[in-house]
Amino acid sequence: MQYKGIIFDLDGVICSTDESHYLAWKALADRLQIPFDRERNNLLRGVSRMASLEIILEKSDKTYSDDEKAAFAEEKNTMYRELLGRMSPADLSDDVRNTLNVLREERLKLAIGSSSKNTRFILERIGLSDFFDAVADGNCITHSKPHPEVFLKAADMISLAPGECVVVEDAHAGVEAAVAGGFDCAAIGDAKDDERALYHLTCISDLIGCLKINN
Ligand code: BG6
Ligand code: MG
Repeated sequence: MQYKGIIFDLDGVICSTDESHYLAWKALADRLQIPFDRERNNLLRGVSRMASLEIILEKSDKTYSDDEKAAFAEEKNTMYRELLGRMSPADLSDDVRNTLNVLREERLKLAIGSSSKNTRFILERIGLSDFFDAVADGNCITHSKPHPEVFLKAADMISLAPGECVVVEDAHAGVEAAVAGGFDCAAIGDAKDDERALYHLTCISDLIGCLKINN
């Protein structure tokens, strides 16, 4: 097997927080009377909270101060965390759980590379607090995806070079970040058909075949 490590995006790969992100942004957008739907929500995948807010505000005819923007982001995050608080280990799919266990048995280093500042909270809610060898998240980066910083940090934390790792991503911004960092990328979900990715997954367990793991 050519890889020694796997770096997973979190939202949309390990767990489905997409709907909660959407509902929280939608509530804010409705309050501010800004048009926002699921299609526009796809543009927010992988990008930081403040960059997401800027994308939403592009459809507003008003301009807002930095303080107002910070308050909007906080308002969204409060709603989002309330929804996250309802998550439990039952929200980890059998497919993800089984795949992680197979990869663990292969002695691969497993890491998270997520733009989310809520990463630790989400991992705790779904019962994976202690599972990963390293967690690089929105709290330890200065550049969000499509910049490769979060994946480079994750690789560094597990002492591997980008060429020794594969990144699993559901966002086009994340695929771009992985490739820019020199990683092979396995794309899933919204980004599945992204041509910059080397592997195209219908579900996470497809990784086992792609990586030629015999289990
Ligand atoms: C990414 C999501 O994982 O995290 C984005 O795909 C989100 O949609 C980003 O904006 C930041 O999340 P958080 O939890 O820090 O607001
Ligand atoms: Mg994602």
